[in-house]
Amino acid sequence: MESAFRDGLLNGKTAFVAGGTSGINLGIAKRFAQLGAKVCVVGRNPEKAANAAAEIGAGALGMSADVRDYAAIRGALEATVAEFGKLDIVVSGAAGNFLAPAMGMSANAFRTVVDIDLNGTFNVFRACHDLLNTPGASLIAITAGQAVNASPLQIHACAAKAGINQAVRVLAMEWGPDIRVNGISPGPIAGTEGMSRLAPGQSADGGHQERIPLKRWGRIEEVAESAVFLCSTSASYVTGTILDCDGGSQLGDASRRMPAA
Ligand code: HXC
Ligand code: NAP
Repeated sequence: MESAFRDGLLNGKTAFVAGGTSGINLGIAKRFAQLGAKVCVVGRNPEKAANAAAEIGAGALGMSADVRDYAAIRGALEATVAEFGKLDIVVSGAAGNFLAPAMGMSANAFRTVVDIDLNGTFNVFRACHDLLNTPGASLIAITAGQAVNASPLQIHACAAKAGINQAVRVLAMEWGPDIRVNGISPGPIAGTEGMSRLAPGQSADGGHQERIPLKRWGRIEEVAESAVFLCSTSASYVTGTILDCDGGSQLGDASRRMPAA
């Protein structure tokens, strides 16, 4: 895709992407590296992390750590600083999801998603704070439209992502002026694990886009561009916001037409 950002924009920066070993977050990590950043990606599966780092190239690190384990995340962050010397950008994007009604979900099932998404985001941001290169550091949480719009079969993710949105706002207040904290809320993004779980059987060109103002699913690369913007100096006065990179999905159903006379 065509990008408005110049090569070398992130030269000299170091980025840590929690949940960056696949999908949208891997796309963000790749774009950071293309623009010159040193990158570390983290997920639970060590083989997946190693493969992601190889795919990113440019000396990227791939490490295994569970965002539910504060000490493990702190260790991965410290290893990143040891390798690259500093830390400028942190993305918290690890998430878990499955479709289930509230009564089909055990307490542990609910807790598991809240632990990964919400508590994981607290852990990542809490653990990185004193390692950040300030002023100018930028934190980005990956949230979702479910934070705002309730959705059946998604009580765990709706609650967790709503919590993430509020955590972004609180940290923006507590950690300014030297650290900016924002979120990105992707819409339906083609070719992702999230869409295969939440919209099984649907595809990006399957005619399900009428409701979306921009009439299509998004691309991983488009979410990555939003992340670059938020951590660039072009966003120097932007903090505490949730950037909806969703084709207008959150506005509601855009498919309504005048009824036949
Ligand atoms: C009901 C389920 C379930 C299901 C798991 N559980 N799947 N309950 N329906 N389909 C229950 C289990 O029975 C268990 O409860 C509890 O959840 C924990 O399950 P584990 O398998 O032990 O957990 P864990 O190994 O930690 O795995 C976490 C996971 C898994 C979330 C369950 O799916 C995962 O690792 N997901 C990561 C990848 C992922 O989900 N990517 C998509 C993110 S997309 P009991 O009571 O039996 O112990 C996304 C989209 C946002 O976030 C919005 C898009 C529009
Ligand atoms: P994905 O490919 O499944 O990515 C999830 C990543 O998180 C993987 O790297 C996974 O690696 C890691 N992860 C999961 N649990 C973890 C844990 N406990 N600790 C550390 N890492 C963990 O998902 P995606 O669809 O691209 O979604 C990425 C983000 O975008 C999520 O925050 C999601 O909520 C958000 N989002 C997605 C969509 C969409 O259309 N897909 C829409 C809105 C929002 P391991 O499995 O190896 O741990």
